[in-house]
Amino acid sequence: MQIIDGKATAALIKKEIAEEVERIVAQGGKRPHLAAILVGHDGGSETYVKNKVLACEACGFTSSLIRFEENITEETLLKKVHELNEDKDVDGFIVQLPLPQHISEQKVIEAIDYRKDVDGFHPINVGRMAIGLPCYIPATPKGILELLRRYHIETSGKKCVILGRSNIVGKPMAQLMMQKQYGDATVTVCHSHSKTLKDECRTADIIIAAIGQPNFVTADMVKEGAVIIDVGTTRVTDASKKSGYRLNGDVKYDEVAPKCSYITPVPGGVGPMTICMLMQNTLSAGKKEIYG
Ligand code: GUN
Repeated sequence: MQIIDGKATAALIKKEIAEEVERIVAQGGKRPHLAAILVGHDGGSETYVKNKVLACEACGFTSSLIRFEENITEETLLKKVHELNEDKDVDGFIVQLPLPQHISEQKVIEAIDYRKDVDGFHPINVGRMAIGLPCYIPATPKGILELLRRYHIETSGKKCVILGRSNIVGKPMAQLMMQKQYGDATVTVCHSHSKTLKDECRTADIIIAAIGQPNFVTADMVKEGAVIIDVGTTRVTDASKKSGYRLNGDVKYDEVAPKCSYITPVPGGVGPMTICMLMQNTLSAGKKEIYG
């Protein structure tokens, strides 16, 4: 069994990005600029955005953090999105999700100029991805593909079971794993209402778990030699930690790991790769690689 080290891989990629940025700047090019909008004070979102800003620093990017209180109106938020769309210095930006109930996430996502949508959530990027055209690919599925590639894990022709159907992970992951130019796998998507979920998992060569239920995938669901990718990051209280909580994956790691050929730990697996792929998308945006 080999542990897939997302933390080390992400550190290596960030170093590669930083070197490229310095080359670009040395040749008189523009330093990539990522802006992030954070609404409210949700603990998880605060942490994610803080880590995105730190990753920008590590990559040599310019970053801007725009904060609003929870009670901001949809109109004010949309105005800021339009401002960032027009800002010539900003190459890409994200609006951290989730947003408060009174704001339509979909409306906000659709207001973002798709050429600056480094999250890859705008319907134009989603649609282009679905038909295999160049686009911004959402960071978590992109990070998983990158881990599989860097660990030389064969996906072509394999049976891949994806647990979860979210717009951010499950759906794009399924699209990418099925496409010839990415995973080239046989893909099954299971979710909370799938009657045959356990049976599907037992015959899977690759399981990608993204359902947000701690310890959901148990040893009896995993084939000997399977590849296990754990996207779960549920916060559970843990008095032994300074923060008072720890992150728990969707996979019961201790009993599943001995059966696998490869497995991602939580933390230190998919998580660090996600932010790193946002940096890659921002570098792409800075270089105007996709939309000119
Ligand atoms: N909330 C959870 N994951 C993400 C992400 O990848 N991007 C944004 N904008 N919000 C998120």
